[in-house]
Amino acid sequence: MKLKRLVLLSSLILGLTPLSRGQIAGSSHDFSTAGNTLYNTTGELCIVCHAPHHTDANYQPLWNHGTTTSVFATYTGYNFSKTGMGGNGSAAPQPDGPSKMCLSCHDGQTAVNQFGGKYQGTTGVAQYFNHGNTMFSPNGGPSLGGTASTNGSLAGTHPISFRYDQTLAANDGALNDPTTAPSGMGGTIANDFLDQNMKVQCSSCHEVHDPTIAKFLRVSNVGSALCLTCHKK
Ligand code: HEC
Ligand code: HEC
Ligand code: HEC
Ligand code: HEC
Repeated sequence: MKLKRLVLLSSLILGLTPLSRGQIAGSSHDFSTAGNTLYNTTGELCIVCHAPHHTDANYQPLWNHGTTTSVFATYTGYNFSKTGMGGNGSAAPQPDGPSKMCLSCHDGQTAVNQFGGKYQGTTGVAQYFNHGNTMFSPNGGPSLGGTASTNGSLAGTHPISFRYDQTLAANDGALNDPTTAPSGMGGTIANDFLDQNMKVQCSSCHEVHDPTIAKFLRVSNVGSALCLTCHKK
């Protein structure tokens, strides 16, 4: 008992208690507040993306949001500069896993308020994330609104949904070994940045729940630190 107290006391003094991470509440992924009733009238935070029951069995964890199945079911993918990169031919594979979840809102094709199987919010009418003509283009600044986007191109965005393993790192020659190199978040790149299939996804660079670092980045990109975690340049 005494020892425990002593340990607790000294860890408080030395500041060894674990740092608390930022939270989704109040971030741009929080659709639970009074100002967001256009998207969500449940008053709940997680429900827009996750639910305990009746979720989409194709996507873990417990995915409750609609995913894109119509126009952008097939995206224009990124074209690698050399064949053999990304482990395949020259074209990046179609998005899967967590990237498909992000794109369900961010491609502007499935409505932000489409969850639990219907259009939610005060109007019950589709509310999209508009990108102008090209996704992630500086020309088409995103805004929230009533109409769907018309372009599903990922050709201008960092490649996603391909395996980043020891073999790829060795072949590339300028990538860190993901199974041993630190992520800057406490574990290895594979532990903290890659999905369960060792794939690079939107979630490799972004932590959807944590706005502590701007743009929900997992690691600060000051001095391109995020890029240099994986790339040896
Ligand atoms: C805007 C959509 C969104 C909201 C809102 C959201 N999540 Fe998530 N969550 C995701 C996505 C996408 C993933 C998968 C990608 C990943 O793991 O980073 C995920 C993964 C998770 C995971 C598994 C991986 C991990 O990070 O531990 C848990 C647990 C989780 N969410 C819990 C919650 C809880 C609890 C809430 C509400 C307080 C919440 N989420 C709100 C999108 C969301
Ligand atoms: C999670 C690890 C990771 C992070 C973080 C990351 N990359 Fe990459 N990147 C990769 C992998 C893996 C490849 C594929 C390389 C290969 O196939 O040999 C790649 C490919 C590339 C390519 C080459 C594409 C081509 O056509 O050849 C460029 C350029 C690039 N990344 C730039 C960046 C920049 C800039 C950042 C920071 C904003 C960044 N990367 C962050 C893992 C990462
Ligand atoms: C339920 C819909 C939804 C899902 C799912 C979702 N987002 Fe978002 N996200 C949004 C909306 C809407 C905004 C912009 C809100 C605004 O403009 O105020 C946003 C904003 C962002 C921003 C910009 C934040 C800023 O500070 O400018 C980033 C980065 C982002 N999301 C990344 C992701 C990633 C990565 C995923 C998947 C891991 C994801 N989002 C999943 C709806 C979603
Ligand atoms: C290799 C790392 C990396 C990957 C993979 C990645 N992003 Fe980003 N993303 C960034 C960085 C870094 C920024 C901040 C750019 C800036 O501030 O100029 C950013 C910015 C954003 C923004 C803010 C708006 C904008 O256009 O700048 C959104 C939204 C976003 N990303 C969503 C996504 C989605 C969705 C995916 C998957 C399809 C994804 N990101 C994949 C690194 C990445």
